[in-house]
Amino acid sequence: MSRVIAHLSRRYRFSASHRLHVDALSEEQNRAIFGKCNNPFGHGHDYVVEVTLSGPVDPATGMVANLADLDRFTRQEVLERFDHTNLNTLEAFRDRVTTTENLCLEIWSIFSLFAESVDHPQLKLERIHVEETGNNSFDYFGEGVSVPGRQR
Ligand code: NI
Repeated sequence: MSRVIAHLSRRYRFSASHRLHVDALSEEQNRAIFGKCNNPFGHGHDYVVEVTLSGPVDPATGMVANLADLDRFTRQEVLERFDHTNLNTLEAFRDRVTTTENLCLEIWSIFSLFAESVDHPQLKLERIHVEETGNNSFDYFGEGVSVPGRQR
């Protein structure tokens, strides 16, 4: 049986709007912290999400995971949830600022359920990478945060 571990990465895109704002702070404080990202009317981004999984290369298929399964999961659980939404209106961000750091954590918690959904327990979520703009990107490797539903 093959114990060769390989990493697989795949990129997805969605568009969404957001406004960086903390309800508990004053308008002045919000403007001071978030600047133009606190604009009351929000603004949009074309987000790029890259998910990286690792696992043994299946000797029969030669694959770590079936990309069709990953695409289906991503479409249902990530793209349909976020694409063309205002992130601030989503339940996931009711108590969290819609920074791309927090979006990264939320997307991690969703992908942490993928291995289970395809009954592939050896598959491990390694990294979630989210690009907000051509200049900003964020990575999460799964350490140190308890997000409901996630597993190591
Ligand atoms: Ni923004």
